[in-house]
Amino acid sequence: MNDNLHQLRCFGCGTRISGAEARPDFRCAECGDLFDVDYPGWGQRKGHDRPNPGALKWLWRERRCSSETLDHSGVWRFRELLPILDNFGNAVTLREGNTPLYSLPRAAKALGIDQLFAKHQGMNPSGSFKDTGMTAALSVARERGFQWVACASTGNTSAAMAAYAARAGMHSLVLIPEGKIAWGKLSQAMDYGAVTCQLKTDFDGCVRVLTQIVREAPIYLLNSVNPYRLEGQKTPAFEIAEYFDWTVPDHLIVPGGNLANSSALGKGFRELKELGLVSRMPRISVIQAVGANPLVRSLASSHGASLEPVEAHTRASAIRIGNPASWRKAARVIQETCGWCLDVTEAEIAIAKAELGAEGLGCEPASAVTLAGLKKLRAQRAVAGGETVVLVLTGHTLKDADYTIDFHRGTLLREEEVAGNEQQIKALERNAISVEPTPEAVLGVLKGKVS
Ligand code: F0G
Repeated sequence: MNDNLHQLRCFGCGTRISGAEARPDFRCAECGDLFDVDYPGWGQRKGHDRPNPGALKWLWRERRCSSETLDHSGVWRFRELLPILDNFGNAVTLREGNTPLYSLPRAAKALGIDQLFAKHQGMNPSGSFKDTGMTAALSVARERGFQWVACASTGNTSAAMAAYAARAGMHSLVLIPEGKIAWGKLSQAMDYGAVTCQLKTDFDGCVRVLTQIVREAPIYLLNSVNPYRLEGQKTPAFEIAEYFDWTVPDHLIVPGGNLANSSALGKGFRELKELGLVSRMPRISVIQAVGANPLVRSLASSHGASLEPVEAHTRASAIRIGNPASWRKAARVIQETCGWCLDVTEAEIAIAKAELGAEGLGCEPASAVTLAGLKKLRAQRAVAGGETVVLVLTGHTLKDADYTIDFHRGTLLREEEVAGNEQQIKALERNAISVEPTPEAVLGVLKGKVS
């Protein structure tokens, strides 16, 4: 399975092209839909020619102890399942992936669930799950001889792209919606040397502008319409399956923005199943913010047959996206795995984020929709107590420290948003206290708390 015989297959009309034939905007020339990377050779192999699941599982685990740079990557460790490069020596890696899977005992107890875990993708080198996709697609850009790469972003893609481009000695162009991304993310793009343009529009507007640019200039597009991004982003599915000794959890819950990540994780589990490495796929559910919920609406109104873009509003700025590119792919994953798609309010997101913080993990607001969504699903009895559930936490808590501080100061949410949740929010708030610089004053604060 070391042959680079991948093709791109249109998700809409099934047209197949070679990787080199892809248009700069990665849209199908026939129908305008997106491509998936496909490996036709896998299906043709029969009998002894088929990959040996046991040998692959052993090899991937063994690589964790290897001294090879590529083996240290939680993406390239699984390179047999993403043969997208002619030469793996072209891979640009920051040792991404291999992220921790934490148990969440307090949330599990509160929800009456036996087994609840968080796959913390915020523990990647640039602090978000985007690194797994970026190592894959930027390596393809390098192999194809591009000097410039670009993305439109709500912040994390730009941070990841700028970091990997810097490592590869390539130039990067970032388009971000002015005033609408978290400082932590903006600071990363600057620090890693990207040309950062703030546009007076939203994320969807930035995508429109960038699509024009890549049609006119030799700049490689690294948004998630680029199907190689999803090849890297599917690898956490392999890590999760490996963690559970190749039995998959019952339920995976993923935040939904541009909807590539849920699509990629679904592809990862689907391929494991097709190759005989696992026996089934987990149920995959996607959670959006109420103010940025085009997929929830699409599934409710047309069973995912069409999608009406919305003007997106949510403080979870990473998923403030009204016209998600990969919505068809995500709808397919939800439907094939009998998953759920629902939305959560600003207060529900803020509370869930503080609860994850109180378990010592923390995450950025967009990641917390997963716990908020699980609480809703549990209340609706859509999740049984005996299920093993994994929440995918997509970004590090320090990405958006302003949000966290505003929450704990009680200035994040408006009165009408808090309504009905006052007690729960008060119990979670931990504002910093101004104290005189004496031991007595500090001990006074602890009075009644330390016994
Ligand atoms: N969580 C975080 C922290 C994100 O940054 C994003 C997307 C998502 C969830 C949603 O993932 O788009 O694959 O459904 N951030 C993008 C960006 C769009 O530009 O950084 P998705």
